[in-house]
Amino acid sequence: MLNMALFISGSGSNLQAIIDNIHETNVPAEIRFILSDNKNAKGIERGKKHKIDTHVIEKTMSMDYNRDKIIKLLDEYKIDLIVLAGFLSILDEKIIKLYGKKIINIHPSLIPKYCGRGFYGEKVHKAVIENKEKTTGATVHFVDEGIDTGPIIRQKVCNVYEDDTVETVKNRVLKIEHEILVDVIKEFCEGE
Ligand code: GRF
Repeated sequence: MLNMALFISGSGSNLQAIIDNIHETNVPAEIRFILSDNKNAKGIERGKKHKIDTHVIEKTMSMDYNRDKIIKLLDEYKIDLIVLAGFLSILDEKIIKLYGKKIINIHPSLIPKYCGRGFYGEKVHKAVIENKEKTTGATVHFVDEGIDTGPIIRQKVCNVYEDDTVETVKNRVLKIEHEILVDVIKEFCEGE
């Protein structure tokens, strides 16, 4: 059984895709806990509906305190894979060193385009439209000490149309995010 921890900050649609396609199926992987850096994140409610333990880190607490709290949780729940599913905080490098190639992130662009500091959520899609890109997509990658710089695991491309808005591009990319994130987790289950 692959024990997963999902880190979120917002609506949790990626979390929901993993609940529906992995957690609630006979795929040998379970979400052991959800961690949010935003106590109002809608994703917390999504987890509670499925009786998944949820924990919150307060940004008002020190980085060291939150780091130690996260490490303690990861250890207590015997986590094999950390999934950053729309998690906006930067993970402490001690966690990255401890978990190495067991942390994956979903990013809503074709890395190395439109990633790094300041490129998250709708800002990504706004830049894609402003630059009149013909395609965009999503990327699942390993997390290293940088921002969106770890080795790429999976990408999928979609078209961008002249009459697209940030909303239409965001929704098209989100569908891809859900698809490739679930696929990559299933591959982790198969030990790939
Ligand atoms: C997604 O666009 C994801 O790529 C980015 O943050 C957003 C999270 O969406 N990292 P959700 O909270 O999973 O709905």
